[in-house]
Amino acid sequence: MTDPYLAGFSDKAAVLAASERYWNPDKTRFWQEANVPLVIGRREGYVLTDINGHELIDVHLNGGTYNLGHRNPDLIRALTDGLAYFDIGNHHFPSPSRTALAMKLLALSGQPFERVAYATSGSEAIDLAIKSARFATGRRRIISIRKAYHGHTGLAVATGDERFSRLFLADRPEEFVQVPFNDLDAMREALRAEPAAAVIMETIPATYGFPLPAPGYLAAIRALCDETGALYIADEVQTGLMRSGALWAISRQNVQPDILVTSKGLGGGIYPFGALLMTKQAGGWLDQDGFAHMSTFSGSEVGCHVASAVLDITTSEQTVANVHAVIEQFAKGLADIRARHADWLVGIRQEGLIIGLEFNAAQGAKPVMSELYKRGVWAIFSTLDPRVLQFKPGLLLTSGQVGDILQRLEDAVVASAPVMSERV
Ligand SMILES: Cc1ncc(COP(=O)(O)O)c(C=O)c1O
Repeated sequence: MTDPYLAGFSDKAAVLAASERYWNPDKTRFWQEANVPLVIGRREGYVLTDINGHELIDVHLNGGTYNLGHRNPDLIRALTDGLAYFDIGNHHFPSPSRTALAMKLLALSGQPFERVAYATSGSEAIDLAIKSARFATGRRRIISIRKAYHGHTGLAVATGDERFSRLFLADRPEEFVQVPFNDLDAMREALRAEPAAAVIMETIPATYGFPLPAPGYLAAIRALCDETGALYIADEVQTGLMRSGALWAISRQNVQPDILVTSKGLGGGIYPFGALLMTKQAGGWLDQDGFAHMSTFSGSEVGCHVASAVLDITTSEQTVANVHAVIEQFAKGLADIRARHADWLVGIRQEGLIIGLEFNAAQGAKPVMSELYKRGVWAIFSTLDPRVLQFKPGLLLTSGQVGDILQRLEDAVVASAPVMSERV
């Protein structure tokens, strides 16, 4: 029988050669040169297996997409059961699945949201959040932080780092203003200088290496938004869905956003899905002109079945208890590793299972990533601050798996330190 994971190719070398030729030459080469020659074959739970057989515990989870593991059987069942009766549906019409999911999201949110809109990705949801804020305020300016990452579509990419906007001529400095993270004075100045439609903030900026917001920083931004009439958009694409130990990380900051954006894990890694939760005012266009924004695949009915199952599992007592146990085990284990290697692992940024490990070199997370890869753990460096390794463990990990990850991490920390000091 042919190997289903090879999709007709003879072996891994053939996949890589064709990938370099027909898919993405630069990206294909990048990973070979970074000593992460991964082509994912089998994927079950938190384990990925390269098509040549190398097993990896996934601590990248594609930003939380696989919070509940790869091919979670309950989610596969939700999708296949849904497919017995539904397809994506027709976004023009009311639908029981779509409405029931909206009601579930609102009931679980713990925030005074009243409207839900859907998207097919985080980026599309961010674009719609910005459009909603502009409609609600009649203003154009959007304020984000430097090194922000909110996706790659038209409006989302303009909020982010020049690294991704300039080369496509998608930067728009006249409409999109950026201020340094954790600099409240700069935020105050930007908000008071000219009327803004919104401030958009990741609660803990992932691609920037998960720097933690200073105590009171996000609440002070909320207050400045109220003072100046701007809306607060919380991008919880990576930080949401229980990664912080609460459903939304923003709730732990005592901030009520006007719009909350969720995606990635909401589709359980098997269906592309995103959603915006909005106050009535922020979602005003839905009352006044419901046809103002449309997207054929958004709010897909089978997708709603998956997202609904994701929410059920994520918020179950059992999952919440497990998340808290895993958080504690990592907090202690990481602190111990740091104590033993304090000159190399110089910082731990942890809010629940949102974790950044800071190393003592400008590109320090890269050798740690490749040493981890050799030892069977997949974790990625932070694109916009490669000192920091993004460390994003799954919500359903067992205590044994956590111990195993910590042991391999310490081995990789030890192995990577001399490599780096030779380079510096
Ligand atoms: C915080 C954040 N917002 C938005 C996005 C965009 O999501 P997507 O890739 O689904 O468009 C990402 C993607 O990584 C993200 O990390």
